[in-house]
Amino acid sequence: MRVGFVGWRGMVGSVLMERMQQEGDFALVESAFFSTSNAGGAAPKVAGADPVLKNAEDLAALAACDTIITCQGGDYSNAIYPKLHAAGWRGYWIDAASALRMADDATIILDPVNRPTIDAALQAGVKTFAGANCTVGLMMMALDGLLRADLIEWVTAMTYQAASGAGAPNMRELVAQMGYAHAAAKKLLADPKSGILEIDRAVTAALRSDQLPQENFTVPLAGSLITWIDKDLGNGVSREESKAAAELNKMLGKPPMGQPGAVVVDGLCVRVGSMRCHSQALTMKLKRDLPLAEIERLLAAANPWVRVIPNKREDSIRELSPVRVNGTLEVPIGRLRKLAMGGEYLSAFTVGDQLLWGAAEPLRRMLRILLGREP
Ligand code: HSE
Repeated sequence: MRVGFVGWRGMVGSVLMERMQQEGDFALVESAFFSTSNAGGAAPKVAGADPVLKNAEDLAALAACDTIITCQGGDYSNAIYPKLHAAGWRGYWIDAASALRMADDATIILDPVNRPTIDAALQAGVKTFAGANCTVGLMMMALDGLLRADLIEWVTAMTYQAASGAGAPNMRELVAQMGYAHAAAKKLLADPKSGILEIDRAVTAALRSDQLPQENFTVPLAGSLITWIDKDLGNGVSREESKAAAELNKMLGKPPMGQPGAVVVDGLCVRVGSMRCHSQALTMKLKRDLPLAEIERLLAAANPWVRVIPNKREDSIRELSPVRVNGTLEVPIGRLRKLAMGGEYLSAFTVGDQLLWGAAEPLRRMLRILLGREP
């Protein structure tokens, strides 16, 4: 199979390249690397790859691929995918962006959770596959056991999303903001006799200063948080929040929210100062009042990456932590307890790396599924 890679140099693309190298995926295909800015340059040196970068807008070069994997972003997908189709190309398109996700002829991929949906789509001749929104995908990895058992009537996800979800420049900006705040208080911190209110005044003044690096976020994130992610849809809902219900139900082959049989999902999405792990506080209403031990058993057994963390202080602060999970495929879920509202009401907290399960990992696994080589 000849596989074309577009957007492989960006943040998600780089994580994808790393994971494919680690798992030996390149050895299974013939690779062609595309570029929007450096066609003719040297391609990355991977087994079985053309040595020269191709132009990512060259339809003929793209059409020579059996499969295209793109991490280039939605604008690229919206521009190129229809043209390739108009030119008669019918290869597999595997996309990290949201552009095609909700299209009728596209399937959202997160195979540990929705492999039956993916297999049915392949059987039906579907050729367009898109990764889920990172927050939705990570929630579904964590709740896999309860979703499989169809036990969730509704769930609210209150998110704590990492800077990486906004892009690489935003991650840099978060660190620059931290440094700027620290620099403003450095002298005071070094003096054990300085007052904490003096330190607070210095840090707050720095974070409020128009000298604070904030070109990308437009507001402070370090020492603060941002209560809106992505576009304002004009109805009080952010675009990020609108994705949860739409994608989750589509992925599970359920009717859209509002119709009988759908899982009701809603919540608020908030940006916090973590690097690349999204966290979520979940409140669920279950269809039945199950014992907590049974719930934990279902969750833990659902897939090899989810890990149930005992609802104890030491376990929670160490394991349910973005710093702990960063760069790993583990999806811990903890703080599991029945809420005061009644036996069907369950709380949970989960953390996951938004660049791995939230973006790159499902793409490389889809390629393996196409190749008939179990991921
Ligand atoms: N939209 C997500 C975020 C990342 O801003 O965190 C990609 O799904």
